[in-house]
Amino acid sequence: MGTGMKKMDQYRMRGGRPLYGSVEISGAKNAALAILAAAVMTDDVVVVDNVPDVRDVRVMIGALEDIGARIRKLDKHKLEICGAGITGLSVDYEYIKKIRASYYLLGALLGKYRKAEVALPGGCAIGSRPIDLHIKGFKALGAEVDIGYGLISASCEHLLGNHIYLDKVSVGATINILMAASLAKGKTIIENAAKEPHVVDVANLLNSMGANIRGAGTDVIRIVGVERLHGTEYSVIPDQIEAGTFMFAAAATHGDVLVKNVIPKHLEATTAKLLEAGCEIVEYDDAVRVVAKGRQLHPTQVTTLPYPGFPTDMQPQMTVLLGLAQGTSTVTESIWENRFKYVDELRRMGADIKVESNIAIICGVPTYTGARVSAPDLRAGAALVIAGLAAKDGETIVDDVYYIQRGYEEFDEKLRRLGAEIELCSSERTNKRLMKKVS
Ligand code: EPZ
Repeated sequence: MGTGMKKMDQYRMRGGRPLYGSVEISGAKNAALAILAAAVMTDDVVVVDNVPDVRDVRVMIGALEDIGARIRKLDKHKLEICGAGITGLSVDYEYIKKIRASYYLLGALLGKYRKAEVALPGGCAIGSRPIDLHIKGFKALGAEVDIGYGLISASCEHLLGNHIYLDKVSVGATINILMAASLAKGKTIIENAAKEPHVVDVANLLNSMGANIRGAGTDVIRIVGVERLHGTEYSVIPDQIEAGTFMFAAAATHGDVLVKNVIPKHLEATTAKLLEAGCEIVEYDDAVRVVAKGRQLHPTQVTTLPYPGFPTDMQPQMTVLLGLAQGTSTVTESIWENRFKYVDELRRMGADIKVESNIAIICGVPTYTGARVSAPDLRAGAALVIAGLAAKDGETIVDDVYYIQRGYEEFDEKLRRLGAEIELCSSERTNKRLMKKVS
């Protein structure tokens, strides 16, 4: 994939222009990753539409093809997947180091073949990311789970339904258990399950493949195992985090943007905070309009929580917005222990933010100033772009856009269509330009 080169790409932008117009939201990355893994749980063909064309999805496709699944691209967002030819039950470190979500193949393959092996994921930029709850779930279903030589291996003669209580709300563990339990014998109950829209989306896909899952979207999910799953056609839900990111970009630039192809219900926490911050929101059946033109931004308090709480994946974007509000705000991160790394970069753009353990105390400034900053991860990277678009003075360069491209489809194109002055370029050029300036 030539990741070395790609990592050097950067966004360059001149801010201060309000965003105007409308933007079309793509399919949800985090739903699509789990859905692609679940699609190989049958030997029939599964057609999945509204799959976002982003890097993480391409890595997942690579992982699936590597174990023998056949994937055909019907169009830019439509895939035909067939898990009949799967021969390998071991997912290489190559994939897991690029996307942790390849651990969904553990639940999918364990359910279908009673055996799976996936390289053990490490920590990442936002926290230590344990997987003890996934393991607890597989063991409760009767699998033997071993960790050694950098791998997690799970296997069993039979998977048997069980009552599983998750000590902490975990999206990943809920989905992994959901997949394996769909093909277990008997009834499984997951208590304290995650309620995120993508958990519901995976359950809906599995049900359309013949599974018997009830209660997805509440904190108790009941699954009655079935013998086999069959083919289906399915369309991934819109990406609530991509939608929220554009809503915050509209607010931070004092613009007026119609965010289209969304499920407004999934955006309630984001909408509530934008209203508190002084924006006007107009909701339609499948679109949300954010109006911030001529409005003063107000400070507020936010704590990230599992759905329907305010999403941790919107936390950096929220902080960037509140950095421009008139007064003092606080943002508390309760999901990941290390998700304020980007604040140092934001300070270089003039933000006045202090981080004390998991709380950011934000004193609003009238504007940011352009600077060269680096994206530490996917969502923080998108947030730094919002800061650059809001900066009234100077050029902003966001390095390492590789992270942003993991989860945002055509991010710069979509922003340009809203009137942003942003371009994607190779950092080599900037480096040469800077060298010339110095000499
Ligand atoms: C998903 O990660 C998302 N990733 C993350 O989005 C998102 O931040 C997160 O959910 C929370 O919403 C994908 O869907 C691919 P969790 P996941 O298991 O499933 C603890 C992005 O930017 N925990 O819900 O890995 C964990 O430490 C990414 O798109 C355990 O203790 O998150 C955390 O504190 C970044 N043991 C909390 O639960 C476990 O076994 C929530 O994690 C598992 C998790």
